[in-house]
Amino acid sequence: MDTSMFDLTGKVALVTGASRGIGEAIALAYSRFGARLVLASRKLEALEAVRKNIEAQNAKAICVPTHVGSLEALSELIEKTMDEYGRLDVLVNNAGIVPATGPPEDVDEQLWNKIMDVNLKGSFFLANSAAEAMRGNGGGSIINVSTYATRRPTPGLGVYIMSKAAVDMMTKVLAQEWTGAGIRVNGIAPGLIRTSITKTLWENEKAREAVESKVPIGRIGEPDDISGAAVFLASDASKYISGETILVDGGLAIGLSPV
Ligand SMILES: NC(=O)c1ccc[n+]([C@@H]2O[C@H](COP(=O)([O-])OP(=O)(O)OC[C@H]3O[C@@H](n4cnc5c(N)ncnc54)[C@H](OP(=O)(O)O)[C@@H]3O)[C@@H](O)[C@H]2O)c1
Repeated sequence: MDTSMFDLTGKVALVTGASRGIGEAIALAYSRFGARLVLASRKLEALEAVRKNIEAQNAKAICVPTHVGSLEALSELIEKTMDEYGRLDVLVNNAGIVPATGPPEDVDEQLWNKIMDVNLKGSFFLANSAAEAMRGNGGGSIINVSTYATRRPTPGLGVYIMSKAAVDMMTKVLAQEWTGAGIRVNGIAPGLIRTSITKTLWENEKAREAVESKVPIGRIGEPDDISGAAVFLASDASKYISGETILVDGGLAIGLSPV
């Protein structure tokens, strides 16, 4: 087997939400496989800390503070990527917010817009600009991060899950439109991963044990558990895959039972 099929040397990868959690883990993995990175999220200081860790692996990264809900900020993000590297090969639409929304009747327009702007609108328009840049070098790979919960909703998180279900469909729509131009579009649907957004599920032992009893693999996921799928989908190892969203959830979705 040709192990170099996972190599990302020479590729430029842009990761949103790269300042912590899953995005940070993906960015670090990409740098280990040879990619040069563009790190985007709102807070520069947190991005700089990730950049230092990437440089410690003898790789290169730039930080671009970006609010992904702002189309102007997204244009600047692509502009800075092209100014620095002159190409873009991989986009990971990972930045996301998971506010508890409560029952559907409690959701107001402001909360709806906030969730949709960051999780769906930002990913769509960034994919559009990224695809334009990727066409300049003959293609690329776009990876959209959604959630296992699109398979079956979790109470109280309805609008979040709806936004991610739309992301899953966006993956298929964009794959249908762009795969012929050499741009593969795929998704990753994480299960329960130990990051700031799931803190209440793992910060005390009782809560963690309750969650872990529902995960067939027997533990909550770590951010780096997502990295393998992210490297695979960015690399030539997945060159015949487009339009697919891969569950990386320790078997959680398959184990979900209505009773
Ligand atoms: N953790 C899980 O169990 C889990 C499960 C399923 C799916 N996911 C998905 O995985 C992705 C990453 O989540 P995570 O668990 O790693 O969460 P996290 O630790 O809270 O990280 C979220 C990242 O997104 C950035 N971000 C938030 N709002 C942003 C905005 N408006 N513009 C730009 N960046 C923004 C944050 O940085 P700043 O605050 O600096 O902006 C941070 O880097 C999300 O799409 C989430 O829905 C997570």
